[in-house]
Amino acid sequence: MNRHTKADVLRAGIAAPSADNSQPWQFAWCGDDLDLRIDASRSGRVSDTRYVLSDLAAGACLENMIIHARSLGYVADLQTFPHPGDELWVARIRWHRDPEGDQPEPLAGAIDQRHTDRRFPWSGPITTETQTRLNARARQIPGQRLYWPRTPRERKAALNVIRQAETLRFRSPTLHAELFSSIRFPVGWHAACEEGLAPAALAVEPPLRPVFQALRRPAMMTMLNRLGAASVLGWRSAYLPIRLSPGLCLLVIPSTARSDVLAGGRALQRVWLEATLNGLSVQPYAAAGVLGLGFVSIEPVLQGALSRLGSALIDLCESGYGLVFLRLGYARSALRGRSGRRALASFGALP
Ligand SMILES: Cc1cc2nc3c(=O)[nH]c(=O)nc-3n(C[C@H](O)[C@H](O)[C@H](O)COP(=O)(O)O)c2cc1C
Repeated sequence: MNRHTKADVLRAGIAAPSADNSQPWQFAWCGDDLDLRIDASRSGRVSDTRYVLSDLAAGACLENMIIHARSLGYVADLQTFPHPGDELWVARIRWHRDPEGDQPEPLAGAIDQRHTDRRFPWSGPITTETQTRLNARARQIPGQRLYWPRTPRERKAALNVIRQAETLRFRSPTLHAELFSSIRFPVGWHAACEEGLAPAALAVEPPLRPVFQALRRPAMMTMLNRLGAASVLGWRSAYLPIRLSPGLCLLVIPSTARSDVLAGGRALQRVWLEATLNGLSVQPYAAAGVLGLGFVSIEPVLQGALSRLGSALIDLCESGYGLVFLRLGYARSALRGRSGRRALASFGALP
């Protein structure tokens, strides 16, 4: 691989999604071998205990690189978690020329278009053919699958679990602090930022913006929680957008082993790219699945709520671990302004 191709592959990698736009990736080249590591300074916060969110983001980054490289005629020999003693070292990728030459890779065209859309309402329907295409993308990564709540009872159960998890993010002082620390209020309500969440990306209605901004203060949140603010926020951030969107599915991973979470990130990215090619808008909801795994430790009084989330998810998807919900639908207009990324050089040594 020449320098130009290497930089191109990394650029595809960092276009991947990451929780709170944390971009927890680090790269190092050794000849044509590329090491992907989790950036210790951008990972390991309370929701990222055991690196669940970072492994998902690393999987998505890895998949973008594999897809892009394949479109340039390279295949990857992948070794995941190559050194058990080094928990941040996620993968070593050995690139070599594909003996079959350049392969058509339709997903590559969606890498730069894919984005998170938090607006609503969205229209539908999402046809069975589209669902079949998304299911097939998830299954291309062994062990991974999508679960679609179909009956009104299943949909209601899924909605409840997401709403409860989103409510907890405002009820728990620990989760509240984590959530608001990733929002870059100083950039204002119109600009993008190169790391973290720009307020503009959150789709908060203009009249509610001052209230939302005031909620970043723990004392204010605690006071308003006495009046039920967390429930209202859970309803606004999850229940309402999902009710007003035609599609909801859940990425289910076979076990909580880190290699399966990483593979889950790869499947998530394939599904998201396919959805983009199909003109669908996507918003992930990760709180329910991540909190339900049981690795996150918050205030003892709320710990029971976390275990109930885990049990509700297990009941919902029967086998495996439901990790990330995806809200899907067709938006009326293209999204203006996209989340930024840091400069490529900040992810480690350039090729
Ligand atoms: C593991 C993971 C979890 C995420 N969880 C949420 C979430 O709960 N709610 C949400 O609105 N976006 C969520 N996102 C989307 C990220 O915030 C988004 O990818 C990031 O801000 C970059 O923006 P982009 O996807 O438009 O490139 C998640 C993304 C990943 C990879």
